[in-house]
Amino acid sequence: MANFLSTFLFFLLFINCAFSWKKDEFRNCNQTPFCKRARSRKPGACSLVAIDVSISNGDLVAKLIPKEKNQENTENGENPIKPLVLTISAYQDGILRLKIDEDQNLSPRKKRFEVPDVIVPDFVNKKLWLQRLKEEENEEGIFSVVYLSDGYEGVIRRDPFEVFVRESGQNGKKVLSLNSNGLFDFEQLRDKKEENEEWEERFRSHTDTRPYGPQSISFDVSFYDADFVYGIPEHATSLALKPTRGPGVEDSEPYRLFNLDVFEYIHDSPFGLYGSIPFMISHGKSRGSSGFFWLNAAEMQIDVMGPGWNNESVLMLPSDQKRVDTLWMSEAGVVDAFFFIGPGPKDVVRQYTSVTGKSALPQLFATAYHQCRWNYRDEEDVYNVDSKFDEHDIPYDVLWLDIEHTDGKKYFTWDRMLFPNPEEMQNKLAAKGRRMVTIVDPHIKRDESYYIHKEASEKGYYVKDATGKDFDGWCWPGSSSYLDMVNPEIRSWWAEKFSCKNYVGSTPSLYIWNDMNEPSVFNGPEVTMPRDALHYGDVEHRELHNAYGYYFHMATADGLVKRGDGKDRPFVLSRAFFPGSQRYGAVWTGDNSAEWDHLRVSVPMILTLGLTGISFSGADVGGFFGNPDTELLVRWYQLGAYYPFFRAHAHHDTKRREPWLFGERNTELMKEAIHVRYMLLPYFYTLFREANASGIPVARPLWMEFPADEKTFSNDEAFMVGNNLLVQGIFTERAKHVSVYLPGEQPWYDMKTGTAYEGGATHKLTVLEDSIPAFQRAGTIIPRKDRFRRSSTQMENDPYTLVIALNSSMAAEGELYVDDGKSFEFQQGAFIHRRFTFSNGKLTSSNMGTATGANNKFASECIVERIILLGLSPAPKNALVEPVNQKVDIEWGPLLLRGGKGKSVLTIRKPNVRIADDWTIKLL
Ligand SMILES: *[C@@H]1O[C@H](CO)[C@@H](O)[C@H](O)[C@H]1NC(C)=O
Ligand SMILES: *[C@@H]1O[C@H](CO)[C@@H](O)[C@H](O)[C@H]1NC(C)=O
Ligand SMILES: *[C@@H]1O[C@H](CO)[C@@H](O)[C@H](O)[C@H]1NC(C)=O
Repeated sequence: MANFLSTFLFFLLFINCAFSWKKDEFRNCNQTPFCKRARSRKPGACSLVAIDVSISNGDLVAKLIPKEKNQENTENGENPIKPLVLTISAYQDGILRLKIDEDQNLSPRKKRFEVPDVIVPDFVNKKLWLQRLKEEENEEGIFSVVYLSDGYEGVIRRDPFEVFVRESGQNGKKVLSLNSNGLFDFEQLRDKKEENEEWEERFRSHTDTRPYGPQSISFDVSFYDADFVYGIPEHATSLALKPTRGPGVEDSEPYRLFNLDVFEYIHDSPFGLYGSIPFMISHGKSRGSSGFFWLNAAEMQIDVMGPGWNNESVLMLPSDQKRVDTLWMSEAGVVDAFFFIGPGPKDVVRQYTSVTGKSALPQLFATAYHQCRWNYRDEEDVYNVDSKFDEHDIPYDVLWLDIEHTDGKKYFTWDRMLFPNPEEMQNKLAAKGRRMVTIVDPHIKRDESYYIHKEASEKGYYVKDATGKDFDGWCWPGSSSYLDMVNPEIRSWWAEKFSCKNYVGSTPSLYIWNDMNEPSVFNGPEVTMPRDALHYGDVEHRELHNAYGYYFHMATADGLVKRGDGKDRPFVLSRAFFPGSQRYGAVWTGDNSAEWDHLRVSVPMILTLGLTGISFSGADVGGFFGNPDTELLVRWYQLGAYYPFFRAHAHHDTKRREPWLFGERNTELMKEAIHVRYMLLPYFYTLFREANASGIPVARPLWMEFPADEKTFSNDEAFMVGNNLLVQGIFTERAKHVSVYLPGEQPWYDMKTGTAYEGGATHKLTVLEDSIPAFQRAGTIIPRKDRFRRSSTQMENDPYTLVIALNSSMAAEGELYVDDGKSFEFQQGAFIHRRFTFSNGKLTSSNMGTATGANNKFASECIVERIILLGLSPAPKNALVEPVNQKVDIEWGPLLLRGGKGKSVLTIRKPNVRIADDWTIKLL
């Protein structure tokens, strides 16, 4: 009965909050005291000055004190003014780090939380040992200057205090600054002023005891020579961030960064979703890009100020002083901020990822197509779906199981009525080169017979509530507790649970999905954990909330590495994320809806994630909530095929929507979209390796490749896949025409027809039913695999096609990266990385970075079976392959791409050169 009652109650609760975005469930800035306070401050309100500026241990150090000491307080000794301690460090590649905290020597009430485990160990070795402090004085005050990198300096102004990075030399133009508008504020921990001072905060039926009182931090950051700012995911909004303050946007909320499980989020909103990355990147025509990152895991709110927000006349500003002002506000923590000088967009991303890490290289299968649904009901359903893919000749790599596969939402268990033989099921799919994924969430059912709960409660591994008892919240299984993943011991214990021995019914072809890790707590304030809950080391939940999901993702990914004895790369998808999540796996944009607007907003959401280090991301194809009409579903497949992470998913109340359920024609269309992805897998995988080595994302905004072209700065309908492909989404029903802006001076080739379009122009194109516009940039070479199999694994030995798009100098270049697709051996040089160059009528394949022949542990017999040349005329007769000295045929005929017939192009048939070798093919 009790059980029935709780299920029933839970059901009511769920109905209550599940089916539309309820604004009232969530706090706005006015209901959030620290945000309200910070936002109401006026420019110049900060009265802190820097004193005792000196060099110590290779850093610049200083103290911040109020200019006019508050005599009254000091005299009666209650709250004497305590200075803040400021440290500036410089790192290689143009990175300045600024820390501001309370003075530990004055024994503050509590050590404020600094987020561990995010900064990569290697970064610390890049510290420059500052030696010299240069003093400058002019009418604006006294400045202390340190070297940052060739061409840049870090500067602190004394009074009023301001920290900035500027170009060195005569001109000394500012790049980035903090506290130029005097909005800095740091609430130091203190005792209650009066016994009856109210520290508690209430929201709806919840009370936050706030035992440490107000402890927020806020400050302004300015980006100079910037036309736009980008980043700070996750919001369902435009790529170029719209102002949230200033004339015309008086009613806007700031961009919120607070990981929340938002049912049916709305598009075009600054509301914070499942993950948070407090990193912003600016871009402008005159200088380029710069970046700012605040490592802080508490709730954050960020305002982007519109021109004229501070009553400064916009017209008065000389155009070379164009800047974007922002205001950063956080509930707790310390200032640990990083300034990145750029100057190119790729430089900023490289700098940011040198601090937080580059993307993990996924296994090859994970870059292919994933089929998911809440829920594939039972084994029969799984076998059925699997065989339908084969019947319709549609490749897929991974079949996913949502929460219903478990026994009562107890993760690591199976509902044995529905899944009596899970190992056999996984093995049958594995025989076709396919994998499965099961869901494992952080809420643990409080059930004495559940081994995970039993161990966790005995060992004291749960997050505690404010009174010190295990925190008990409501989630899918009913009454649940949450593992305290911040503790390394608990993470290590958790990781062991993924071994095939411990996870009964699992096999090595099973991978994992972490959902609800914001964490989602159905009956908690704003559907999450109370801020006064307590973690390992007496850290309050408010201090690390945004990193909770990150730690869970980390522990799960480590579990999969341990399972394979450190041999296989893990695959774990996470909904919540934080800076550094790119090191642990993929993320997706959460519970979107089957609406055209959500298809549209998926592009800026994915591009923003890429800019902030998380390359491997995607949106649920088809939209999670609701039933997409067929045209929307097809368009979503056509766009999703270019997402870095390509997965279809649907809510359990939606109609089934596997690709073959909408009539023959639509099945064809979806199949073709999936085929495009499989064809491009070699190119995608090469890009994933680039992201792994450099941090540069797979999907990029156009301005990342064309940083001087202003027309691209706010374009978020089109995007680049690598630097070779431009994709334009179709976001409206029954669209007849679409305008596509193609940047640069060189032409672009329609991927399907081979038709050339002029660069630097907007083209009005007829919209086709069977594909969305995609163009190969002139001057590039794309490697493909054009034969279709059941899964990516089965394509391993297939031959390649190279598509060469020539530019006006009749030249092109491209890359191909190949390894075993699964292990870590590529890190010991077991890979093939080739550069292809075409010029003077000659295609050359050369080695890009690893030992060839016997020294390379990775071998491949794969050959190139076809080379397509776009933009060449007149046609040569044949081609000579060297060094074998063999002539091969050339054909002049229409480009054939599944169903379509395009322009006449030149095709070199069966050159049959091995991708592992050096060779040259000369056109004769
Ligand atoms: C700008 O001026 C308006 C009207 O005088 C005033 O209400 C507002 O507070 C001012 N804003 C700032 C940032 O000073
Ligand atoms: C590249 O990916 C591998 C495998 O995921 C990872 O171990 C490695 O740290 C990544 N490389 C960098 C530079 O982060
Ligand atoms: C054509 O492409 C080649 C190879 O990418 C490049 O080196 C060359 O500069 C390009 N020519 C023009 C005019 O863009």
